[in-house]
Amino acid sequence: MSRLLTNIGQLVTNDPERDGILGLLEDAAVVIENDRIGWVGAAADAPAADSVTDVAGAAVLPGYVDSHTHLVFGGDRADEFEARMAGRAYSAGGIRSTVAATRAATDDELRTRLAGFVGELHAQGTTTMEIKSGYGLGVAEESRLVRLAAEVTPEVTFLGAHVVPADYADRADDYVDLVTGPMLDACAPHARWIDVFCEAGAFTVEQSRRVLEAGAARGLGIRVHANQLGTGGGVRLAVEFGAASVDHCTFLVDGDVAALAASETVCTLLPGVEFSTRQPYPNARRLIDAGVRVALASDCNPGSSFTSSMAFCIAVAVREMGMTPAEAVCAATAGGAAALRRTDIGRVVPGARADLLQLKAPGYLHLAYRPGVPLVERVWKDGVLVVG
Ligand code: NIG
Ligand code: FE
Repeated sequence: MSRLLTNIGQLVTNDPERDGILGLLEDAAVVIENDRIGWVGAAADAPAADSVTDVAGAAVLPGYVDSHTHLVFGGDRADEFEARMAGRAYSAGGIRSTVAATRAATDDELRTRLAGFVGELHAQGTTTMEIKSGYGLGVAEESRLVRLAAEVTPEVTFLGAHVVPADYADRADDYVDLVTGPMLDACAPHARWIDVFCEAGAFTVEQSRRVLEAGAARGLGIRVHANQLGTGGGVRLAVEFGAASVDHCTFLVDGDVAALAASETVCTLLPGVEFSTRQPYPNARRLIDAGVRVALASDCNPGSSFTSSMAFCIAVAVREMGMTPAEAVCAATAGGAAALRRTDIGRVVPGARADLLQLKAPGYLHLAYRPGVPLVERVWKDGVLVVG
């Protein structure tokens, strides 16, 4: 089954063989062959297909790749957000209140909520989402979260080392034993990645190292939460382990930037966090100018960033973090794919997955130029129309 999308006013391909950051094509067409991109080129040269969709001059992009979310949880923390807006600081300890609400929820309650979030992300143009555990913090509790996440995405991250749970207060090393032993045994079969929150109030560099070593020994890929609340050794630990991504990176010293620039580790920036915690935004310009590969993700979670909108993240990154609109769109698509070490998503090239976003706009610039405006017209995932 083939479908021709034609009369595309502006096509973002992210094809490195084409010009510019976004590999733009004007007056373009794309052929979807089953779940893959079959052909990309000028509309005038398009081959015949079983069906035709005329997008009437609209822009088409790869679907967003949201490489950092925490979508399996119970409850919310609206009260904590209200207190922060009145001046209270964000702290890692808030995670524990979501742990209590998540433990209290049934599988079906969590599954129904998660399905709602998946629909919410699709409706906003996200076609790939990574989902972390981290609100269970016990063997049975974490393994049910990774199993539930694996029902909706292959990009599942085991984050048993999110924070030390209340039942292990003052016994953080014992908790790390649990995470690297029975919890990892129970979770690794359902996960692709392991992650640790390496930060004051969560896990030290040495504890984080133990977590990453254990995960790597089980064949899991490495991701790290680091340098969110202050400077520290998390970024360099991530680079040392060849992490696919180190996320947050709000507070960096020059040595962190140099280490990232010399590595294959993607630096994933999460503007929703700074928006919602009133912290300073990370300096994306400094990273990009140093040669660091940058991704943008939502970090959708009930505490530090309860947005699932990648368009919002793009707009804030442009307005507050020194990114050009083209850099921000690339970071939200191809950058997210790189952060997941995927080459089959985040670009519109023959052979890639047919994950596409049609905007109600003539060009990608409108994503930053029209913040807060719903600009999604149609979304295809694996060649199937999921929105529109
Ligand atoms: O990515 N940094 C650690 N974890 C989450 C916060 C989760 C929460 O506050 O519930 C984050 O910001
Ligand atoms: Fe996170």
